[in-house]
Amino acid sequence: MALLVTGGAGFIGSNFVLDWLAQSDEPVVNLDKLTYAGNMENLAALAGDARHVFVQGDVCDRSLIDHLLATHRPRAIVHFAAESHVDRSIHGPGEFMRTNIDGTFTLLEAARAHWSSLNEAEARQFRFHHVSTDEVYGSLAPDDPPFTETSPYQPNSPYSASKAASDHLVRAWRHTYRLPVTISNCSNNYGPFHFPEKLIPLVITNALAGKPLPIYGDGLQVRDWLYVTDHCSAIRRILEAGQPGEVYNVGGWNEMTNIEIVTTILRLLEELRPDPAGSYARLITYVADRPGHDRRYAIDARKIERELGWRPAEVFATGVRKTVEWYLANQEWVGRVTSGEYRQWLDCNYGDRK
Ligand code: NAD
Ligand code: TYD
Repeated sequence: MALLVTGGAGFIGSNFVLDWLAQSDEPVVNLDKLTYAGNMENLAALAGDARHVFVQGDVCDRSLIDHLLATHRPRAIVHFAAESHVDRSIHGPGEFMRTNIDGTFTLLEAARAHWSSLNEAEARQFRFHHVSTDEVYGSLAPDDPPFTETSPYQPNSPYSASKAASDHLVRAWRHTYRLPVTISNCSNNYGPFHFPEKLIPLVITNALAGKPLPIYGDGLQVRDWLYVTDHCSAIRRILEAGQPGEVYNVGGWNEMTNIEIVTTILRLLEELRPDPAGSYARLITYVADRPGHDRRYAIDARKIERELGWRPAEVFATGVRKTVEWYLANQEWVGRVTSGEYRQWLDCNYGDRK
């Protein structure tokens, strides 16, 4: 038995692979293109571990996926691979359509062919788990109830539209072909190995470097934040007991404004690595808002709790402390992933914001 994981060198995927192999001897075949967001260093703890088979490749490459399925005969596919950053999708949506939509389509077709070739017992056990986001549901007003699994899809960014499209494909492959799929729609993750283009690692990294902390608009946008290992445990639980065709919303019951997130991180930094130039708060800089910026996301995670008994183990106060400590202890990782292409991205995204 084995799992095929896509995007397992990225932020959540690498945490999932590390977590999986810490708890199970079932091998993982890890297919990742190693874009700017994929980093083999995230998986360094698995060097020489025969349970981890890494393959550099593209989820749009049908013959490669056919080959991996035929060779390793995984009992499940866990599909993380995606372009994942909203701001990049605004500057260049093309790659999002290719990887997130065409890539999911290619993987679904390969999975369907593979699943059709399995014997009855294997076919009954097989799962295709699609990792998606709460952003497909659009934006909430302050008093709206959180998103449930039946909230209408109203994606607003090229990123969320591409993820919504991929969710629809997965749903259709269940409805039409009976492929045993599950989908999870999760809120914002944070934790180790988070690429410093996203808010939490960007703020930690910039503060330590004495650089401005860019706050889009008024900073009062709301997100629900979940510690990454809780997302991993939710996916493990869905693989274990989730029902084919079901969607599970996954969240941390932790809504916070962006400015609250930033000030919480700065307080922790003041405690753990005080600002040599006075106070990190001096670096907070309000900049032009993100076009089409979603105001609020919130997740109603009662279904996964009721049906699968999953709840997050971490609360924000403990998760964010671990995260800041991890970044302080892993400055070399930050230095390596933020060389090269990352600098061009900073100029592209922040250069023109006033
Ligand atoms: P990430 O950007 O950190 O990692 C994505 C990984 O996919 C990278 O390793 C990259 O190399 C790989 N990849 C990209 N294009 C590929 C391709 N064509 N073929 C093969 N591999 C490719 O993303 P993440 O934050 O770890 O997100 C993983 C998944 O979880 C995504 O599907 C995302 O939509 C979803 N998600 C993310 C969050 C979040 O807060 N980060 C929340 C909910 C859902
Ligand atoms: P991000 O981490 O990009 O996740 P998402 O857009 O998928 O929720 O951003 C989280 C929030 O932080 C979002 O409201 C945008 C905001 N933000 C800033 O204010 N400044 C920044 O430099 C970045 C990257 C994000």
